Amino acid sequence: MAERVAVIGVGLTKFGELWTKGIRDLAIEAGAKAMEDANMNSKDIDAMYVGNMSAGRFAGQEHLNALIADQTGLNIPSTRVEGACASGSLAVREGMFSILAGQHDIVLVGGAEKMSDVSTAQATTGLMGAADEEWEGFHGLTFPGLYALMAKKHMHDFGTTREQLAAPAIKNHHNAIMNPIAQFPFEITTEKVINATMVADPLTLLDCSPISDGAAAIILARESVARKYTDTPVFIGGTGLSTDALALHDRRTLTALDAAVRASKRAYEMAGVTAKDIQVAEVHDCFTIAEIMAVEDLGFFKKGEGGKATMDGETQIGGKISVNTSGGLKGAGHPVGATGIKQAAEIVMQLRGDIGKRQVSGAEIGLTHNVGGSGATAVVNIFKR
Ligand code: COA
Repeated sequence: MAERVAVIGVGLTKFGELWTKGIRDLAIEAGAKAMEDANMNSKDIDAMYVGNMSAGRFAGQEHLNALIADQTGLNIPSTRVEGACASGSLAVREGMFSILAGQHDIVLVGGAEKMSDVSTAQATTGLMGAADEEWEGFHGLTFPGLYALMAKKHMHDFGTTREQLAAPAIKNHHNAIMNPIAQFPFEITTEKVINATMVADPLTLLDCSPISDGAAAIILARESVARKYTDTPVFIGGTGLSTDALALHDRRTLTALDAAVRASKRAYEMAGVTAKDIQVAEVHDCFTIAEIMAVEDLGFFKKGEGGKATMDGETQIGGKISVNTSGGLKGAGHPVGATGIKQAAEIVMQLRGDIGKRQVSGAEIGLTHNVGGSGATAVVNIFKR
């Protein structure tokens, strides 16, 4: 990489059921906050990338690229990027590449989703658009169902226990208490997780990320202009993207996301680091089993040991590696198109050292792991101070 790309501003809305705000309000709020954070106004922005999974199904609104650019008062190049729940991180990559290609100096990357205006049944059906419709959706599978199959197999093959499965949710709800934007900032216990309403055996309500509204934005700038706006630029050191079969039955295994393994290898190589160098990571814990597989797929722990490591506290703030300091998708919420950008914003704030109570002391290298569907798209981005 010749000149590096820096993140110079971040902006987040609250995540949750936000009855009084539509998707355009959320996107504008996040973008405005990011510009304020970067000490700039909209005239400084050269282009925009918008991550969104399914505004058409969830909010009846397509054509977000132009809608959001227009609302910002800009008629700049604006592109919508879609890769299911990984749309946000894909948008970060595209924004970065547009700068590296010499096209732009400053790019706003935003992500938004408004999911709570439809019923849970409609949201579930909408989300299943990210799975294989012919082989999975048509037969009645849901996302909790798909991840329940992976959880059962992980428990069978590696002896992961029901208690270990609950551990990421307990940690992430705890971390969410320190995050002002979080949807579910409260403590839960192993007993509460196990005894909550069953959604898809073995996953209960408290093993699932919620249905959320929210938006996030970051501002990217080429290195030579970044320092005009901030003294604490955080650089994108590496990025990796890989894909896999949409249908679970076409995959090599049910107990790992091969796309995430491949994406992380590429990102580590590009950044010139290894898993051991990562101090803080935001991983895609759409279900508790997803975080257990993520910490294995990323190479933080050996295959099959993710559940034990989480239960032993190795991924809590200040542990061997701090995972999901934001509260993750589980505690902070999962407005799907915004998630990858919220992850990036969290890591940037960690590396700047200005994130308050949930600060990982001395954090210099961080990572985001963002998964689309049940693992058919995976994006890993690495950030450095
Ligand atoms: N975690 C914790 N609490 C949750 C929750 C979650 N995931 N989802 C809802 N709640 C809470 C609500 O706040 C509400 O609390 P209250 O009674 O104190 O107000 C209560 O549980 C019931 O909420 P409700 O909206 O009726 O839940 P629901 O049954 O409609 O939806 C799920 C629950 C688990 C089905 C839904 O959150 C879901 O589908 N999650 C998965 C989303 C998904 O697949 N995302 C993509 C991943 S790849």
